[in-house]
Amino acid sequence: MKVDGVHHRTIGPAGEGAAVVIIDQTHLPHSFVKARLETVGQVADAITHMRVRGAPLIGATAAFGMWLALEADPSQGGLRGAKDLLLATRPTAVNLAWALERVFKSVAPLPPPERASAALEEALRLSEEDVEINRALGLNGLPLIRQAWQRAGKCRPVNVLTHCNAGWLATVDWGTALAPVYMAHDQGIPVHVWVDETRPRLQGALTAWELASHGVPHTVVADNAGGHLMQHGKVDLCIVGSDRTTAAGDVCNKIGTYLKALAALDCGVPFHVALPHPTIDWSISDGLEEIPIEERDAGEVTDVAGLKGGALETVRIFQQDTPVANPAFDVTPARLITSLITDKGVCAAGEEGLLSLFPERGLDSHASEGED
Ligand code: MRU
Repeated sequence: MKVDGVHHRTIGPAGEGAAVVIIDQTHLPHSFVKARLETVGQVADAITHMRVRGAPLIGATAAFGMWLALEADPSQGGLRGAKDLLLATRPTAVNLAWALERVFKSVAPLPPPERASAALEEALRLSEEDVEINRALGLNGLPLIRQAWQRAGKCRPVNVLTHCNAGWLATVDWGTALAPVYMAHDQGIPVHVWVDETRPRLQGALTAWELASHGVPHTVVADNAGGHLMQHGKVDLCIVGSDRTTAAGDVCNKIGTYLKALAALDCGVPFHVALPHPTIDWSISDGLEEIPIEERDAGEVTDVAGLKGGALETVRIFQQDTPVANPAFDVTPARLITSLITDKGVCAAGEEGLLSLFPERGLDSHASEGED
């Protein structure tokens, strides 16, 4: 997608030397900074500290991390060590394990001297696929926005509510939940996005920045405002992303997603989840019991960073030693979800719906985690 008229992707090889270039999202929305990562340790640190974030981008970044690791140590021990290091960075988004497994399987049978270049090839392939998957997903979701516009008599913008950042910053390009929004906007369908601020990490600031860069009208709201907006008919549809979707259609996404789904059901507002197929974890069915929910640092809740006089400052907003819990994700059961928007099509949230799009995953052939 474009920033100031220039096309950028969130990650790619540096072009010279063994290094990748990322957009460092910890500087956004205040400044647009790219960073160069040269070691697997730097990649692991970038994922852990959310310099890159969003399920698909975490996966792509980890794939490039495997390349950097193998440039330094292509031995069997180096390969396993890199996979373990990267796998431990963030537990919830299944794209991480999926991408690591994919690179691992493609390089493990090779003699060590051939592994690094093969890992780079696989990381590049995976990145290109991510872009194409999200483009397809966007095209599949677009009719939902067009239909909402028709229902509104084509006389006002379609109001979409989204949570967290499931835009191009969360992927290699296009985004997931925002891909249909960008496509609708580009096709002349008037769209307005309600952007949840998404405490505590405030990914809503990333979403607002993206939408502003692309010229899509939007309004940031406090997380608690969504129910009120829906009660008053100000939301036509919700579209959110997913960090892991079970074979039964339960969706794990950024903390607070579940509350929006509850409000949407009460208000009769369609609640859609956009997910690329690598986000489906076919090995599990019970989202509440089986998905590991990342618990992040209390400082994300107690402290807030912002600009003051042109410089970034962090201030504490709670009393010292106040007990804090910071679960980063929650699970929205399939029964609260109107539809799943995937790169293969749109389906009802549930096992039957998913299998209609992915028949090869039928009960007898539930494939193990990591298979494509
Ligand atoms: O903790 P984050 O910022 O990595 O969480 C991101 C989300 O929860 C997104 O909604 C999700 O990854 C889907 S984005 C394509």
